[in-house]
Amino acid sequence: MTKGLCILGSTGSIGQNCLRVVQSLPGRFRIVSLSAGKNLDVLVEQILEFSPQVVSVGECQLIEPLRERLRLREHRAPLKVVAEISGQVEAATLPEVDFVVSASHGTTGLVATYEAVRAGKQLGLANKETLVVAGELVMQAARERALEVLPIDSEHCAVHQCLRSGRRQEVRRLILTGSGGPFLTTSRKKFDSITPEEALKHPVWKMGGRITVDSATLMNKGLETAPDMRFPIQYALTYPDRVTVNGRPLGLDLAALGRLTFRKPDTRRFPCLELGRAALEKGGAMPCVLNAADEVAVESFLTRRLPFGDIPRVIERVMRRMPETELRSLDDVLKCDREARQLARELIPRTS
Ligand SMILES: NC(=O)c1ccc[n+]([C@@H]2O[C@H](COP(=O)([O-])OP(=O)(O)OC[C@H]3O[C@@H](n4cnc5c(N)ncnc54)[C@H](OP(=O)(O)O)[C@@H]3O)[C@@H](O)[C@H]2O)c1
Repeated sequence: MTKGLCILGSTGSIGQNCLRVVQSLPGRFRIVSLSAGKNLDVLVEQILEFSPQVVSVGECQLIEPLRERLRLREHRAPLKVVAEISGQVEAATLPEVDFVVSASHGTTGLVATYEAVRAGKQLGLANKETLVVAGELVMQAARERALEVLPIDSEHCAVHQCLRSGRRQEVRRLILTGSGGPFLTTSRKKFDSITPEEALKHPVWKMGGRITVDSATLMNKGLETAPDMRFPIQYALTYPDRVTVNGRPLGLDLAALGRLTFRKPDTRRFPCLELGRAALEKGGAMPCVLNAADEVAVESFLTRRLPFGDIPRVIERVMRRMPETELRSLDDVLKCDREARQLARELIPRTS
């Protein structure tokens, strides 16, 4: 039976890779719906190739330009074009959708991801922000419906597979490693003169802007620590089949790697690691605050309004000032996210 797919963030790095996997496995998947922000060039090509039923764009003003481009390309298949958060929710909860890939930027796909789970869709989660900011709510909704949440993020996928090779009680601890990003050996004094171009030049991966900068500050590792992994691990342990990435069996070419060296993380130069850990320990609203402040700080760095070295300072200040509350509903999460962003925006001119 073909699986009906919705891809949230189809025009991004993960989204485009997902569509490549779909292409490489003909007959197994059907693209029911796509959701994107504003990259109409890529979206048009995806619509022409995969003929989805519903497409959602980031803003209502983009609906007509998208339709116009499709008319020019003589796209005749029936297509409903929707927009914004309600549009994403519609795309993710269509009856024909079996599986939702959550790969939108930051928290832009959060509501649709949550609603997809509530509608009983299986979830493939690249967007770790979902678990950082609303992990308990999303996993609770999944548990109530006996749904599997499959990790698409590589570290979580690796953890998922490691945990399947033994009993839960046999696992004492999980160690995440990382390359250390492009500034592993850069002196701390030079951090404030790092440019967005330098930070966006990831040595190995081509990814979206936010995650690339998060890899350079090591916040990406912090975010991997911050979600409460108990629930995803629980699901991963009970999941029967192995997940393959990009349709290829997973495997390392150890000979090509040659040599691996390990060192302790330098949390003085990369304070984002400690901030991730602190957010996890505090729990409640703090992981959501951490994520919101990081997103605003990274955006300010990319638009040259904040030096690279000030990214963790902004996050830390926002975390210190926001109240340590519980988040009991998605509305609580969205309110906390809004307030933390607002505070970060206010603090940024005073930080730099
Ligand atoms: N890239 C990786 O290798 C990788 C690995 C692990 C985890 N992840 C996680 O996967 C997620 C996506 O990462 P990425 O690298 O693929 O990011 P990306 O390339 O920046 O793509 C983000 C996607 O979100 C869409 N988007 C942005 N704003 C939107 C809005 N307001 N409404 C609807 N859609 C919107 C973008 O649309 P437009 O481009 O059309 O504006 C794009 O399709 C992130 O959570 C990241 O941490 C990525």
